[in-house]
Amino acid sequence: MNSPHTGHWREHFAGVDLPVPVFGGGTVTGINFDNAASTPPLKRVRDAVTGFSEVYSSVHRGTGYKSRLATEAYEQARELMAHFLGVDDRSQVVIFVKGTTDALNRIAAEQARLDGRQVLVTEMEHHADLLPWRHRSGHVMVGLSDDGHIDLDAIEHALKNGEGKIGLVAVCGASNVTGFVSPIHEVAELAHRHGALVSVDAAQLAPHHRIDIRPANDPGHLDFVSLSGHKMYAPYGAGVLVAPRTFFAGAPEVMGGGAISIVTWDDTVWADLPDREEAGSPNVIGAVALGVAIETLLELGFDEMLRHEVALGTDLHSRLSAIPGVGVLGGGDAPAAPRLGLASFVVDGIHHGLVAAALSHEWGIAVRNGCFCANPYVFHLLHMNKQAVEAVEGEVTSGHRKALPGAVRASLAPYNTSEELDRFVDAVTHIARGGMRSTYEQAADGTFSPAGGWPRIPSALKTLVKTRK
Ligand SMILES: Cc1ncc(COP(=O)(O)O)c(C=O)c1O
Repeated sequence: MNSPHTGHWREHFAGVDLPVPVFGGGTVTGINFDNAASTPPLKRVRDAVTGFSEVYSSVHRGTGYKSRLATEAYEQARELMAHFLGVDDRSQVVIFVKGTTDALNRIAAEQARLDGRQVLVTEMEHHADLLPWRHRSGHVMVGLSDDGHIDLDAIEHALKNGEGKIGLVAVCGASNVTGFVSPIHEVAELAHRHGALVSVDAAQLAPHHRIDIRPANDPGHLDFVSLSGHKMYAPYGAGVLVAPRTFFAGAPEVMGGGAISIVTWDDTVWADLPDREEAGSPNVIGAVALGVAIETLLELGFDEMLRHEVALGTDLHSRLSAIPGVGVLGGGDAPAAPRLGLASFVVDGIHHGLVAAALSHEWGIAVRNGCFCANPYVFHLLHMNKQAVEAVEGEVTSGHRKALPGAVRASLAPYNTSEELDRFVDAVTHIARGGMRSTYEQAADGTFSPAGGWPRIPSALKTLVKTRK
């Protein structure tokens, strides 16, 4: 048996051994530590998409053989998702959407229209789980512990204070900045006790942690769950929204073909769920790809993969925080609560954008830098006070982005290996010691690039066409 650190699932993922050009000429096998942004497809998903293209046709209304086949595959994908998440089909519905942002905006639109009460959010949320609420029903934002964990007491206090005024609690299942896994069932219990529903942004949780929605009569059950296929090895444009069947009333937010039973000259009868929430021609290939990804993860041993990720992640946190001059946001100690294999860090005296550029240019390592679409959380973790944030806001609104605060994020997936982690830790150690070999320039938008430019990338489209020949 392979040790939990070897990442023996690598062969199942497409494009993970790509040679990438590095400073000084030549190439190295690239390391992708940017999985929280998007993951590569599983090879089986890629191949299934190619195979399915041969039989693809429109779903639901066609009588042709291909249409019936495509409809069956599409509905099977829905069943697979329901099974994977523990959805009780009688009380909840699985709706195919574009991704988490789309799903959360859909909930926010309906919530504002049908309920109108405020939404409670935490300071930890990604902008996709913050702005739709802020600009629709309005939100109450609760703070976190000093080191950036969900504060259940603060949530309970806000719910008590807002009794009757809060209709929904929106919380991320796991943070895309620290990897902290939220106590979602405890949050759900609190929400339900105070007459609110709970929505879990599972963009980061679903690919890296088991989710169990639990039956509707369980006080800790999850009312809404949103996720994205491109973060779980099926980057073909589909995601999922799980919602209570009773949530949808009146006309749907998105209207059009497929969502109706009958339309007369002056009347509309809406179709049953899920059709009424899937107006227009759905992304059949994306949904099927997501279904195949789930099936493949379960067949390969999803739980074992997750154990590997956690073990590698624990090493990532402890080894990064042991490097002199490097600080891990949220701390690097062995976690008391579950944490994903994801670490955001800062290097003393070196801009996060410069660290990210050097990792790519000199070591062939892909990471992400900035505030990761979670500005309030990153400001909290960097211990910035209101005055400091307002100063940054002033700079940005007057067009100066060079000193934007932020961090560098490394995020793991099951195909990553301990050898890759060694190379990464070695690279960060060099950078923290001032050991960059190339020189870099910062552009007005704040990004860094090697002086003289990045190695030329061949036209991606031409390369694809050539590969196919
Ligand atoms: C925690 C979290 N929520 C929501 C999103 C938005 O997901 P998408 O861009 O797939 O809609 C992301 C994406 O990075 C995320 O990390």
